[in-house]
Amino acid sequence: MRILVTGGCGFIGSNFVRFLLRERPEAHVTNFDALTYAGNLENLAEVEEHPRYRFVRGSITDRAAVDAALKDGADVVYNFAAESHVDRSLYEPQTFLDTNVKGTATLLEAAVKAKVKRFVQISTDEVYGSLGKDGFFTETTPIKPSSPYSAAKAAADLWVLAYHHTFGADVVVTRSSNNYGPFQFPEKLIPLFVSNALEDKPLPVYGDGRQVRDWLHVEDNCRAIELVGTKGKSGEVYNIGGKCERENLVVTKAILKAVGKTESLIKYVADRPGHDRRYALDISKIEKELGWSPKVKFEEGLPATVRWYLEHREWWARVKSGAYREYYEKHYGKGL
Ligand code: NAD
Ligand code: DAU
Repeated sequence: MRILVTGGCGFIGSNFVRFLLRERPEAHVTNFDALTYAGNLENLAEVEEHPRYRFVRGSITDRAAVDAALKDGADVVYNFAAESHVDRSLYEPQTFLDTNVKGTATLLEAAVKAKVKRFVQISTDEVYGSLGKDGFFTETTPIKPSSPYSAAKAAADLWVLAYHHTFGADVVVTRSSNNYGPFQFPEKLIPLFVSNALEDKPLPVYGDGRQVRDWLHVEDNCRAIELVGTKGKSGEVYNIGGKCERENLVVTKAILKAVGKTESLIKYVADRPGHDRRYALDISKIEKELGWSPKVKFEEGLPATVRWYLEHREWWARVKSGAYREYYEKHYGKGL
């Protein structure tokens, strides 16, 4: 089975590549990644020499590069490649349009031409917008994205689904909630706060810190994505959530406790413009149709994740300092 994973040098993509090589002996994985600031080859250093793995540097916005990566065909494409950070989308929205919308459209077109059997679009619960205190997003909830990031992801979802409707392309879309776990770029809440706490730096809590996210361990997401990729119904959307709603302040305090630091490190800062208040997913579709449910309990997954960052201080220190960018040059001989 030939699998093209885009964005495999990022957080979820690198966990997914490891998952495939570990769990699927028949999988031959090509990781196609542009190596933006979020792409880190060190995330996959341990599988670099794996006989069923190869890395190709390229952008999903570059049709010729995508065609070259698909030259020998592929059974499935998993499209993780994206600009993924909401805060960055407030300052450079155009990049989000280029990568998340035009990049997805370019990749999909190339995949259809290359007769790829299935296209899996990795999307997000943020496309649904924000919830009040009650209710859950189902797959039929109308999309109402709030940020340039989520608007671009929503546009990509619609584009991919239109290819199914109009051209009969075999596509599936996953919409997951907030992931956490090893190798997450320390701009996102959990790795930023864990690494700041370890360095005795302030933890910047936006607004009142009472926003709610539904936390999902990245291993649970990888398992769900692969299940949707292999067993999901063509043309369908699948929510993937952790059934684990937590206020940001609760997560922040749990991190401080796990790291062994006091709450004096909490620093309330200005709120994120357009900040979504609450996300919560109804995951009964994937539970009933595909028999998936989250396994990792947050009360165990969070301390385990904190331990991982404690034990991999060098990894995140190199990311925070920018030193991880040297890896490409050292191993592939060309500058970034
Ligand atoms: P990330 O920012 O850690 O990684 C993104 C990866 O994509 C990087 O390796 C980067 O180099 C690569 N990339 C960016 N632009 C590219 C391009 N033009 N061509 C090829 N590669 C490119 O992201 P993540 O957190 O791992 O998220 C992966 C996917 O999952 C994204 O599509 C995101 O929208 C979605 N998602 C993330 C979460 C989450 O909690 N992190 C939740 C739901 C959905
Ligand atoms: O819901 C899925 C989405 O989760 C994904 O689609 C995105 O790619 C991913 O980045 C994530 O988006 P969020 O905006 O929810 O994640 P982030 O880690 O940036 O923020 C989580 C919450 O914490 C959010 O309410 C904002 C808040 N926050 C975040 C940071 C970085 C803070 O209070 N302070 C911070 O410094």
